[in-house]
Amino acid sequence: MRIITILMITIFLCTAVSAKKKGAPGMSAGAPGDRTCNSKKCHAGNELNSDKAKIFIAGLPKIYTPNEIYEITLRFEQPGAKRWGFQATVANDKGDAIGSLISVKGQETHIQDNARYKSKTNRQYLTHTKKGILGSEKGKSPSWIIQWKAPETVVDTSNFYFAFNAGNGNNKDTGDFIYTRSFRVSPGSK
Ligand code: HEM
Repeated sequence: MRIITILMITIFLCTAVSAKKKGAPGMSAGAPGDRTCNSKKCHAGNELNSDKAKIFIAGLPKIYTPNEIYEITLRFEQPGAKRWGFQATVANDKGDAIGSLISVKGQETHIQDNARYKSKTNRQYLTHTKKGILGSEKGKSPSWIIQWKAPETVVDTSNFYFAFNAGNGNNKDTGDFIYTRSFRVSPGSK
């Protein structure tokens, strides 16, 4: 019993610490089988996808060319929000990773590499860093530039899943507004 309690506490602490240091915990981007930031335990205060924010996602192709690297810029605005976060993942229609997400040098982003998620899915999760939650202007998130490298061969449709958090800056997971967006990008002609 004691060992189980210690194990439970360790897992809980790891999650809390990785969430604090390392951006959003994996599997929170709203892809099939994932939670979103607005899950029952976390950031649950407000309705998902309320219409308070303006979300800008630029650079997603309509169709993709094998091996091409696409640069995608994410940013959003919400009056009164003070802390900002995101998570992105890409999957084919079977839910498997397709292509690869790249965390761009110099950007306050990183690929969530917590083994806990690797055991559950082969998808990658790209998220903000701790420094990456600070916006430069009131009510405006930082811009995060991420990259996606298309698969070597034209195979499946790629589904992009994004989750965004407009936080109130109370350093808690309460009072924040969560948004999700998803896009289908078809393979170019074979
Ligand atoms: C993609 C989904 C998520 C995003 C973008 C996100 C982003 C953020 C941001 C921006 C903050 C600072 C909020 C503020 O100060 O107002 C925060 C705090 C927090 N988040 Fe999340 N989060 C996500 C998912 C989660 C999930 C699923 C959990 C629970 C497992 C979680 C746990 C926490 C906790 C405990 C805090 C408060 C203290 C801290 O900074 O660690 N988050 N998150």
